[in-house]
Amino acid sequence: MSPFILLLLLSAAFAIPYASAHRSQHPPIPASDLVGGLAYDFYHESCPHAESIVRSAVSSFLAPNISQAGALIRLVFHDCFVQGCDASVLLTNGELSGPPDLTLRPEALALIEQIKELLEQSCPNTVSCADAVVLAGRDATYKAGGPFFDVPTGRLDSLAPASVATVDSDLPPPTANFSFLIGIVNKLGLTSTDLVALSGAHTIGLAHCASFNNSILPTVQNDVDASFAQTLLQVCPNDQSNQETVQDYVTPNLFDNQYYKNLLHKEVLFDSDRALLDDEESAATVAAFAANQQEFFEQFAVSFVKMSMVAVRTATTNPSNGNIRKVCSALNAANATLPGVTMLYTAKDTLGDTQ
Ligand code: HEM
Ligand SMILES: *[C@@H]1O[C@H](CO)[C@@H](O)[C@H](O)[C@H]1NC(C)=O
Ligand SMILES: *[C@@H]1O[C@H](CO)[C@@H](O)[C@H](O)[C@H]1NC(C)=O
Ligand SMILES: *[C@@H]1O[C@H](CO)[C@@H](O)[C@H](O)[C@H]1NC(C)=O
Ligand SMILES: *[C@@H]1O[C@H](CO)[C@@H](O)[C@H](O)[C@H]1NC(C)=O
Repeated sequence: MSPFILLLLLSAAFAIPYASAHRSQHPPIPASDLVGGLAYDFYHESCPHAESIVRSAVSSFLAPNISQAGALIRLVFHDCFVQGCDASVLLTNGELSGPPDLTLRPEALALIEQIKELLEQSCPNTVSCADAVVLAGRDATYKAGGPFFDVPTGRLDSLAPASVATVDSDLPPPTANFSFLIGIVNKLGLTSTDLVALSGAHTIGLAHCASFNNSILPTVQNDVDASFAQTLLQVCPNDQSNQETVQDYVTPNLFDNQYYKNLLHKEVLFDSDRALLDDEESAATVAAFAANQQEFFEQFAVSFVKMSMVAVRTATTNPSNGNIRKVCSALNAANATLPGVTMLYTAKDTLGDTQ
């Protein structure tokens, strides 16, 4: 390499400002393939510190106990699968009363609200709650030992929550079989590889006994490792147990590929986890991720970004169908404008969300 090129590379390296120090060279999905209106570093001009504000808030939140990382990662899933990644999950008296959302952790929801306050202080009316959710989930993944990767931003927040019935039908239950799971993800444009990679998030975080007792109770047909079932029965002795347990008994607080190893040993909690072995292609992906953590990490980044683009509303695609909420748990009271986009809406305009 010529000294000139070396000098050029060095100066380029040092020119990278702090805010982009974490930026990877290869985004999971090329910028040109992102949904219209989304961009990597969307807030570069309008709120240059947006991503570092989220990152340091997530960092402080997780410092005393990394276990909450799972709560932040799961929040992205529950937001994006229901009506798209639009922060609809955060609205008070909305989706949160849907059964699958009852186990979202209040601390994680509160953190997003605190992050939003910080973002409003720095850049009023600029950064969406939907982006805060995705960024926090991405940062939690990294903090817990998982991959760091770029996520696009530029999402708008919804103008209404989905119904509780929609929450129930769009989020698969832990008892789901493979055909049910693949049906849900295919509808969102995700593949079986995405399903397997994203389920790998069950390498971290907690579950309530009631979420899996069906698969460990002796009366129910199951294929859980027998001594693992005994371990679980100690924590969750009967179907009334109200306790929580870690999902990954080997490395509970680490975002790694242990989930796939546990799955191959039938030491996972949910039918929906074990169902990934019931399909030939999906089982092969499980085996590949169990054998190669790097392969899992790379696919997780791609699949996470795909999930983060499900049915997004942006200033380009459907500006009249979203806005920047001031408070994540509540719809804005009055009409608002976005930079460059005149947005007039009332809450009732949003009822028949068309995507
Ligand atoms: C494929 C279908 C899925 C099903 C049926 C499912 C089901 C569940 C259930 C029942 C829990 C336990 C909740 C509780 O009892 O407290 C849970 C926890 C969790 N899920 Fe999933 N999940 C699925 C996919 C995903 C995806 C796509 C992600 C994210 C990429 C994810 C991330 C998590 C995390 C991190 C936790 C731990 C939450 C915490 O620590 O509070 N899950 N999941
Ligand atoms: C971290 O939080 C989890 C879940 O709330 C809890 O079970 C665990 O005991 C906590 N660990 C520490 C070290 O406080
Ligand atoms: C999978 O689950 C669905 C929904 O509960 C059910 O209708 C279907 O028969 C099941 N499929 C198989 C192959 O068990
Ligand atoms: C699991 O526990 C919950 C809560 O106690 C109970 O309502 C449910 O029926 C149990 N599920 C099974 C399959 O036993
Ligand atoms: C929002 O704008 C619409 C259309 O101009 C108007 O009818 C409505 O009264 C406004 N709502 C609020 C709360 O300002």
